[in-house]
Amino acid sequence: MNKQDIDAVLARIEATETGDGNPRIQAVVNRIVRDLFVTIEDLDIQPNEFWSAIAYLTEVGRNGEWGLIAAGLGFEHFLDLRLDEAEAREGVTGGTPRTIEGPLYVPGAPVTIGSARLDQDEQPGEILFMQGRVRGADGQPVADALVEVWHANHLGAYSFFDPTQSPFNLRRTIRTDADGRYRFRTRMPVGYSVPPGGSADTLLGLLGRHGTRPAHIHFFVTAPGHRKLTTQINIEGDPYLWDDFAFATREGLVPPVTLVNDAATLRAREAEAPFYSIDFDFDLHAARTGLPADRVERAHFEA
Ligand SMILES: [Fe+2]
Repeated sequence: MNKQDIDAVLARIEATETGDGNPRIQAVVNRIVRDLFVTIEDLDIQPNEFWSAIAYLTEVGRNGEWGLIAAGLGFEHFLDLRLDEAEAREGVTGGTPRTIEGPLYVPGAPVTIGSARLDQDEQPGEILFMQGRVRGADGQPVADALVEVWHANHLGAYSFFDPTQSPFNLRRTIRTDADGRYRFRTRMPVGYSVPPGGSADTLLGLLGRHGTRPAHIHFFVTAPGHRKLTTQINIEGDPYLWDDFAFATREGLVPPVTLVNDAATLRAREAEAPFYSIDFDFDLHAARTGLPADRVERAHFEA
């Protein structure tokens, strides 16, 4: 079809909309429909291809994999980059980089002050201690900040999504102490892949891509008067470190991992075996009006 004929049919469709509708939704839907009409025309999409796409989109919802698709096709990372730009236009730069939340946060983790132990289940994996400070834009430590942390176990599985783990295993909320410090003990996470044979796996396979993430730990860091930080740190040395299917690895989020194995330190920490240690500080931005929303409304699994 030529462009005038496509414009004419789009105009007929859009003319059925009235002032009773939501103008924002009208603008977004009309734009997406227009772009898809053009895609169908340009790529000569056949009816069988169109209806197989509809069946696929239905299946993604049934499988609960929209969060994985959004990450895997780069939408979630793209939204991060747009937020970075919007902040930079307002003069907000530096600080700890944000990166994607992913689909596996569960609100309501137990809250502790200063330090926490995340590995509540009996589980294998190297012991890892991670510690540092939350700081404000002025570089000063922030007391009473909330560090919400969640990560996968030694098999790359998350509590609540893996029925073999107890609720909130490897999930905690740590309130920073008077010096802005947090500390936790856990087990070294490993990377994981999208569910084999699922919707994301099928799509990535057809794109000739893998669906694997490198080992990482998720964080939300919040404090009154500061912008919420959504981020992750990656475990250095992972073969997928810079080949994350969700594009979440960023400079500044790959802290060194130290193996602590000298006898005196192990005794002082009451550790029976060598452990890994990561030092990492979170640098927040001051909250103020005129900046894009830092709290993203998103459906979460209810514990
Ligand atoms: Fe994750």
